[in-house]
Amino acid sequence: MSRLDIRCKVDLPVYIIANNNGGKGVTETKTKFTSLSLSGGFINFKQSHNENKIFGLRYDLPKHGEFEILGEVARSESDGFAARFYNLNRDAKLKLWDYIKENMADDISCPYCGKENTQKLRKCDKCGWSLNFYSQDYIVEHEKESFIKRLDLKSSLFSIEDLYKILNYVDVQILKIGKNLDINEEFVGSSQGILNVFSMIRRVAPTDVPVLITGESGTGKELTAMAIHERSQRRRKPFITINCAAIPDNLLEAELFGYEKGAFTGAYASKVGKFEYADGGTIFLDEIGELSPNLQSKLLRFLEDKIVEKIGSNGSKKVDVRLIAATNKDLKSAIAKGSFRKDLFYRLDVFNINLPPVRERDEDKVILARYFLNKYSKEMNLNKTFTSEAVNAIKTYEWPGNVREIINRVRRAVVMSKDAAIGPVDLDLNIPVMQMDTMTSLREVRYSIEKQKLIEALRHCNNNISKVARVLGISRPSVYSLRKKYSL
Ligand SMILES: Nc1ncnc2c1ncn2[C@@H]1O[C@H](COP(=O)(O)OP(=O)(O)OP(=O)(O)O)[C@@H](O)[C@H]1O
Ligand SMILES: [Mg+2]
Repeated sequence: MSRLDIRCKVDLPVYIIANNNGGKGVTETKTKFTSLSLSGGFINFKQSHNENKIFGLRYDLPKHGEFEILGEVARSESDGFAARFYNLNRDAKLKLWDYIKENMADDISCPYCGKENTQKLRKCDKCGWSLNFYSQDYIVEHEKESFIKRLDLKSSLFSIEDLYKILNYVDVQILKIGKNLDINEEFVGSSQGILNVFSMIRRVAPTDVPVLITGESGTGKELTAMAIHERSQRRRKPFITINCAAIPDNLLEAELFGYEKGAFTGAYASKVGKFEYADGGTIFLDEIGELSPNLQSKLLRFLEDKIVEKIGSNGSKKVDVRLIAATNKDLKSAIAKGSFRKDLFYRLDVFNINLPPVRERDEDKVILARYFLNKYSKEMNLNKTFTSEAVNAIKTYEWPGNVREIINRVRRAVVMSKDAAIGPVDLDLNIPVMQMDTMTSLREVRYSIEKQKLIEALRHCNNNISKVARVLGISRPSVYSLRKKYSL
């Protein structure tokens, strides 16, 4: 069988970087390569090495500079060992090839199979590999041609699961098949509740139908709105978010519809409103339940004809925007109380996606917590895990702040925990056991705890809404609506 890589004799210094005995620190030992190929080399080293041991290799290529790669002992011999290389990037490979090419013996035989080549053929007539070493594309072509053989040599080590993983990796990561449908990338969860949400997003995204997203604070309403936009034909056009609770009424009107210069005191220049700005795209009206009666009727008018009239202007402009609205309020009871217009509700609620709270997505609790644990550990270059007590606490806790609360608690635990294993205390999840005789309805408990926590946080943060939102792990608009709810 022919080789897959050309080998050449060299005399190149290399440092072996290894963990020393106790794993406390590393040692660097200077020695040399006596032969090299693109996939490995022979290292002159008298000490014995265990096979499959992994270490670092640092070498300086004349004309090309320093490289550090991973090596593994493939075979030990009395004067040293053969090392297999890992993680050579394209640049390191091309430069190594340059070096090998310069050091190749000026031989008259094929370096792959050894067949004599006195006629200096450009393709070996025995093994079939190209011998056109000095062509610019030679090495890339050879790597491509030998790729299947390399995989084939390793394939006996693959399990059937590995094969599926490889094929899926090729389809999804390399060929990007199904990219637009891959909601799972940013949306985590496998509970029936969240799977229903994924399916509704897929169904409604390609249409132009208005969507009303409902659900408690932190359940993923904004994420859902973005997922719809990204999977629609409008994805290359703007996605504009407006928080109806965070902007005072008069400013919100100006923000949405725009205004002409001099329309009101302070309007020094004319401004394009968000509806016009979002032309061709999607506008996401968050906390729609907080809209004043005045703006409710203006929005209704806009939805009927999609015509924007800037404040202080006589003209109007037709725009093409898709509307997605969200609320954590019960709009039907707001209608019953007379604080929300029924006709507007029906305009918005053409397609409703209700996001289930985390406490109803039991199996997702740990999946979400682990997802964010990995995410933040990776970001901070740490290696953290949950103890089994932490996993139990995560399962038992109700997560009133939903996914946002999971994010905040896990992120804080990753930063604050001293050990690699995160326990319930690090997550601040020492759940008190409630006595049967003092048990009240869940709604009452939630009401009083929520109110109490809000009072404490407002006091602690001197009524600074951004700080309160951070402390409680909820969004600023949610703080506004909670203040309204409890008249604080
Ligand atoms: N299923 C999920 N998988 C991964 N991340 C999620 C999921 N659901 C929500 N998140 C994340 O949780 C955070 C809160 O989500 P989002 O802002 O969409 O919630 P919301 O319902 O709009 O909250 P609020 O009512 O407080 O504004 C965001 O960082 C979001 O990316
Ligand atoms: Mg939101």
